[in-house]
Amino acid sequence: MEKMLPVLLVLGAVLVAVLLFILHRVRTDGAWALWWHDNHLEKLKDFLSGTSRPVRILHHVQKVAQYGDAQSVLSAVDSYCSKIEWAMNVGDLKGQILDAVVLETRPHYVLELGTYCGYSTVRIARLLPPGARLFSIEMNPQYAQVAREIIQHAGLDVDILVGCTSDLIPQLKKKLDIEKFDFVFIDHWKVSYLRDTKLLEECDLLRPGSVLLADNVTCPGAPDYLHYMRTSPRYESQYFPSRLEYLQVEDGMEKSVFLA
Ligand SMILES: C[S@@+](CC[C@H](N)C(=O)[O-])C[C@H]1O[C@@H](n2cnc3c(N)ncnc32)[C@H](O)[C@@H]1O
Repeated sequence: MEKMLPVLLVLGAVLVAVLLFILHRVRTDGAWALWWHDNHLEKLKDFLSGTSRPVRILHHVQKVAQYGDAQSVLSAVDSYCSKIEWAMNVGDLKGQILDAVVLETRPHYVLELGTYCGYSTVRIARLLPPGARLFSIEMNPQYAQVAREIIQHAGLDVDILVGCTSDLIPQLKKKLDIEKFDFVFIDHWKVSYLRDTKLLEECDLLRPGSVLLADNVTCPGAPDYLHYMRTSPRYESQYFPSRLEYLQVEDGMEKSVFLA
C-alpha cells in the first residue's frame, strides 16, 4: 500500500488538474460552456429531478416572482439561471441591448423566432406600446406551454405559434392578417437564421425600416447570416458586442435595418 501512495497522489493531482482545466474552459470558452451545460448538466438534472429545465425554471418563477409583474419574472429567471442552472435565454446583459432596440424602434408588429421559456418574449412584450402585437414561434410544444405560463405570470398577452419557422413564416400573412413586421427578434437555431431571413423577404413581410435583431451571432455564431447582412445592399447592419448569457464568454447581437 505504501508503494502505491505516490502513484495515487500523482493520479489524484492529474484528476484535479483535468477538472480545473475543464472548469476553466467551461467558464471562458463558448463551445465548452454549451457542451457542458446542454449535454451534461441539463441531462443529469433532468434524470435526477424527473423534470425538464424549462419546467424547473417555470416552478422557480411561480415560487418567487410576483404575479402580474414582468420585471419580477425576468429577475426570477435571471437569478435562477445565473446561480442555479444555466439556460439559453438571451439573459439580462444582452437583454438590455434588446430593450434599447425595442424602445427605439417602437414596433407595432413584432415577430420572434425561438421562444424557449418566453424570457425574451416577456422582455419585448413589456416594452411594447398599447395595441402592439407580438407573435413568437417555437417548435417544441413543451417549451411553448412553459412559455405561455411564464408570460401569463408576467401579466402579458402574446401569441405563441407552435411549429417550425420554415413552415409557419409562409402562412403568417394569411393566418394572422399581418402585412409587415416592424421588428423581428431572431433567436432560434443559428443554422436557420439566414434561411428564415430570406423567407421573410420572399414572403414580403419586411418594409423599409423594419429592424432585425439576431442573438448569438458570435457564440455559437451564425457566420453565413452575418456575411449576408453585412454585404447585402438590402440591409444596414451594426454589431453590438456583449457576453453569452450568464457566462464570461464573448458573444454579440447584430442589428440590421431592412432598406428595400
Ligand atoms: C435560444 S432558444 C430561444 C431563447 C429565447 N429567445 C429567450 O431569449 O428567452 C432557441 C429556441 O428556438 C427553438 N427553435 C429552434 N429552431 C426552430 C425553428 N426552426 N422553428 C421554431 N423554433 C425553433 C428551440 O426549440 C429553442 O426553444
